[in-house]
Amino acid sequence: MKALILVGGFGTRLRPLTLSVPKPLVDFANKPMILHQIEALKDVGVTEVVLAINYQPEVMLNFLKEFETKLGIKITCSQETEPLGTAGPLALARDQLIDGSGDPFFVLNSDVISEYPFEELIQFHKSHGGEATIMVTKVDEPSKYGVVVMEEETGKVERFVEKPKMFVGNKINAGIYLLNPSVLDRIQLRPTSIEKEVFPQIAADQRLFAMVLPGFWMDIGQPRDYITGLRLYLTSLRKKSPSKLSTGSHIVGNVLVHESAVIGEGCLLGPDVAIGPGCVVECGVRLSRCTVMRGVRIKKHACISSSIIGWHSTVGQWARVENMTILGEDVHVCDEIYSNGGVVLPHKEIKSSILKPEIVM
Ligand code: GDD
Ligand code: MG
Repeated sequence: MKALILVGGFGTRLRPLTLSVPKPLVDFANKPMILHQIEALKDVGVTEVVLAINYQPEVMLNFLKEFETKLGIKITCSQETEPLGTAGPLALARDQLIDGSGDPFFVLNSDVISEYPFEELIQFHKSHGGEATIMVTKVDEPSKYGVVVMEEETGKVERFVEKPKMFVGNKINAGIYLLNPSVLDRIQLRPTSIEKEVFPQIAADQRLFAMVLPGFWMDIGQPRDYITGLRLYLTSLRKKSPSKLSTGSHIVGNVLVHESAVIGEGCLLGPDVAIGPGCVVECGVRLSRCTVMRGVRIKKHACISSSIIGWHSTVGQWARVENMTILGEDVHVCDEIYSNGGVVLPHKEIKSSILKPEIVM
């Protein structure tokens, strides 16, 4: 089977992290977001993943070369010269997706995290005989997603409304699809939206089905959702592979520490923390609800909560970083600084406190 991952879009909502790498390469729980997806696809027998790209192709290409060999899966690129939206890229990659077997193929938004129940998706798709299956999940605030109205018993989709202005329902498109090759005949090679143009059409033909996704789900394309997503991911990891999480008297709740990270004496870590490869956390540090990316140094007695610390940054001693502070790559926060929701662009040095949420350029 094959899969296409939509990796376009500029990831503006995840700046400043996406000023350094394309959104799918931003680390989540110690590895690039897209690796979580590629690994799960491989586990259900996908042999080739097509990345539908519209910017920074060279960065993605370098990345995929490394992981093709590491993961033993073919990864190819389909590059747009203009952004083709969420459906156009499927038309562009048509020849890469069709292999004559008639098998359905997966399509994924690159910024969604879940337990990726692909096996269940395949089984459900086979059972209903329709043309396309989308996974749905329930959320409290459906207006920023695609909303699906479906027949409870059969899963047949009656309506698909992208970003509705009025309440239609609370089951939303999770950005994970299994499509028959015939869906490609419905898509033209031009900028077009699968949510606005293709799904409503298949639903009108009564050939679109939806399956409620078991387990957790989050679109991690925005900082607040990214931090919530980490909490959900770690909770799920606790159930599935608890041995991957840290233990000890300095740990509270679910904490993921890369084996190459060094943790000093007297720290208190957790809940919901990920510490990446090569990080150095000096003594007496307090971390909660945060992500510390590869190569970061946190100096002694610093305190970080509800924040994301970008690659190779440093946080000075006794500094306090909180309330959705996002440090881009290679940011240096001086000793004893306070950051309340600062969003700091890459390569900056922070010498005075940031007292209220603001962007520091
Ligand atoms: N190749 C390519 N070209 N990819 C694109 C383009 C493009 O022009 N535009 C967007 N994408 C990719 C994004 O990188 C992302 O992986 C996916 O398409 C969806 O785009 P987002 O910008 O993240 O959309 P959204 O989050 O507002 O809404 C989508 O996801 C929701 C679930 O998270 C929709 O699919 C909603 O229906 C859905 O509920
Ligand atoms: Mg998104």
